Amino acid sequence: MSFPEIRLRRLRRNDALRALVRETTLEPGDLIYPLFICPGNGVRNPVGSMPGVFNLSVDEAVKEAEEAAALGIGGLLLFGLPESKDEQGTGAWDDNGIVQQALRALRQSPAAQKLVLIGDVCLCEYTSHGHCGVVIEGRSGFEIDNDPTLELLARTAVSQARAGADIVAPSDMMDGRVAAIRRGLDTAGFSMTPILSYASKFASAFYGPFREAADSAPQFGDRRSYQMDGANLREAMREIELDLGEGADMILMKPAMPYLDVVRSARERFGVPMGAYQVSGEYSMLQAAFEKGWLDRDRATLESLLGMRRAGADFIVTYFAKEAAKLLG
Ligand code: PBG
Repeated sequence: MSFPEIRLRRLRRNDALRALVRETTLEPGDLIYPLFICPGNGVRNPVGSMPGVFNLSVDEAVKEAEEAAALGIGGLLLFGLPESKDEQGTGAWDDNGIVQQALRALRQSPAAQKLVLIGDVCLCEYTSHGHCGVVIEGRSGFEIDNDPTLELLARTAVSQARAGADIVAPSDMMDGRVAAIRRGLDTAGFSMTPILSYASKFASAFYGPFREAADSAPQFGDRRSYQMDGANLREAMREIELDLGEGADMILMKPAMPYLDVVRSARERFGVPMGAYQVSGEYSMLQAAFEKGWLDRDRATLESLLGMRRAGADFIVTYFAKEAAKLLG
């Protein structure tokens, strides 16, 4: 049978019919809201390239968390802007570091009962050079030394778990970091703390605005020796497979919109919980179009997120979390 007996438009005739046959859902609980924590009190500094995103002091972050919890958002992903940076990124694993302070304060708040608190585990926000690992002299100028970095990442994860993180999320792209973090957590008594690994993370121009938000731009060179080449899908599957083999409980893929095929392929191959990260540049380009009146804000926001769910993401990290939750609520 085909047209005219078959008419797919029959099931599109009204809202109720469309709702009945809808294949994909999007709910506030699927969304994870990133926060950038900075020193001070009562601080709410807007990030120029990300309208609606702020650097928040701990007290302001708690307020934001309460709002997120009331909207039914699933969780928070915490990034830190430390008081000072150094060569090694010691602020990342300082038990009194900025993310650790925020985790402790959030733990005290009733909002935290409803939110999953996730610590982003990386060094780039804490190192003076802005790279995600230990920098050494190399053949072509400098190199990021993989193995010594693992210990620092493990320390960071343990310190976040101790401060109250429900989940730790390594985003550095060093080889072997999931195993190192798992060992570190287990040894420190956190065998029940899950690892959400940014398993497939591409070297992307779409991280640009984040580096302003987190003050984490590399001071020299770029991240292409550790983040993946945007051309490689098969390699992304190997990254995921290796991280799962090392003990990752869930995986995260980023960016989202230009890499939805990665999400789809991962969904078809792996039965683990997986998320997509709609990164800063994806957010900023949509915001820019909204400001110009070129796209419908509400519809384009939800459509961008629905596409990630349809591609196979169980959850989505997005700076639109609050707006989207309001629209869905
Ligand atoms: C830290 C990290 C980055 C992002 C998440 N974790 C920046 C980077 O790798 O340069 C980017 C997130 C975004 O753009 O929203 N390594």
